[in-house]
Amino acid sequence: MLTIILLSCLVIVLLMFIIMTYRFHSLIEKNKDEEILNEKYSFLQGLVYTGILLTIVAIIAVIYFGLKGTIWEGHLTEWLNIIVRVMHITFGIAWIGASFYFIFLENALNRTENIRDELAGNLWAVHGGGFYYLEKYKIAPKEIPKNLHWFKYESYFTWVTGICLLFIVYYFNAQGFLIDTNVLNIGAGTAISISISSFIFAWLIYNGLCRSPLIKNGKLFSFIGFIILIGFAYFYAHVFSARAAYIHFGAMIGTIMTANVFFIIIPSQKAMVFAAKHGKPLNPEIGKHAGMRSLHNNYFTLPVLFVMVSNHFPSTFGNENKWLVLIIISLGAAGVKHYLNLKERGELSYWVMPISVIILLAAAFITAPKKVTIECKPNISITEITTIINKRCITCHSLKPTDDIFKAPPNGVVYDTPQDIVKLKDKIMQRVVITKTMPQNNKTGITQEERDLIGCWIDQGASLK
Ligand code: HEC
Repeated sequence: MLTIILLSCLVIVLLMFIIMTYRFHSLIEKNKDEEILNEKYSFLQGLVYTGILLTIVAIIAVIYFGLKGTIWEGHLTEWLNIIVRVMHITFGIAWIGASFYFIFLENALNRTENIRDELAGNLWAVHGGGFYYLEKYKIAPKEIPKNLHWFKYESYFTWVTGICLLFIVYYFNAQGFLIDTNVLNIGAGTAISISISSFIFAWLIYNGLCRSPLIKNGKLFSFIGFIILIGFAYFYAHVFSARAAYIHFGAMIGTIMTANVFFIIIPSQKAMVFAAKHGKPLNPEIGKHAGMRSLHNNYFTLPVLFVMVSNHFPSTFGNENKWLVLIIISLGAAGVKHYLNLKERGELSYWVMPISVIILLAAAFITAPKKVTIECKPNISITEITTIINKRCITCHSLKPTDDIFKAPPNGVVYDTPQDIVKLKDKIMQRVVITKTMPQNNKTGITQEERDLIGCWIDQGASLK
């Protein structure tokens, strides 16, 4: 059954390729008008891309449900995770790279010396053993060139692969990763609905703000926007597990960024190209508004980048006030981006960088472990520790886990022997004693006394006796 469905999906993908090539060739035959041809082609291309993507998703879903509950389930999710994550990173780098590059261009343009009337500025650059000369038009060239490069798929694919990762890591395994019943006791369906609707809601608020008169007052707009971001960080931290809360904050901003590209920036550019081609008057406001959205995206990049790697840093998401840490780091990161933007524009700013660094240091400061003075009893023995670990950890961290969700030891971490425990004592200190991010969601109900005892044992040299 599975094989038949898979084969038919494959056949559909192949057919789509063939139909697309065939349609394109017949278009060339019938239609010598290049412009119509291009438009039709790009529409077809979009259609086929969507088709292929949906088919791939369908194939994966079929495989997933076919393997669910077998020993290959964990293996499949791991490989999906690898493939989609690498794609996500690659598209993300391309997108953010392009974003940095164009904001740099905008900031570094020579706008004064030897500029033709129709130009906003130009720029010389050397890269990869060649010299480049770029010109930016005030509005649009008299004739739109045939080959015009667009930058949109980087953004769309980053978002699509990001949403796929949300499915693979958080939605497929909502009980394990999305939900922490100590934070809020909700079911998988509710959690996933909250997750998805929060992204839509965030976009509606942001887009509404951008269309309101508030946008004329840049400072007030940023301030209110920031307050709303705090609201989202706080909300996520009180609904989802700590790691999921962080990732959702990033995914929410990433969704706004891609929606900016999809709903505002690209349509504006299309309108500009259309007007220029048909000699219609061009409303410069359209370009300006798109430029502003693009600038917002630029400020979002560093905070989103931090969030995307934050899962490696339990001292951030593991903090009691995780939402506050998230907001402070995001603010500091956006501040660094602001400094870079100012610098590229040749504006010397004395205070932006130092203040951003102080903000980031504040995050390091408030996440520092507190010195706790607990009475340690002398000579804690390894048997006391293995008793705790056996009770609280090896349901997951064993070569043969008995947990209902984790069928393979998470991150390959096992504590089956005392030697295993001693080997990883530093990580245990970090995750169990300091950040208290293990046991995951405290599923096994470790007590503070047990954490203290482990901490004392490590302090006393983690002896194997
Ligand atoms: C319910 C399952 C579960 C239990 C119980 C559990 N863990 Fe984990 N552990 C995980 C998962 C999932 C990860 C990977 C995700 C992460 O790092 O948060 C992990 C990761 C870790 C890591 C980080 C490994 C790395 O490579 O960075 C350490 C250390 C750890 N656990 C220690 C413990 C200890 C010690 C206990 C018992 C006190 C424990 N865990 C109990 C699920 C569990």
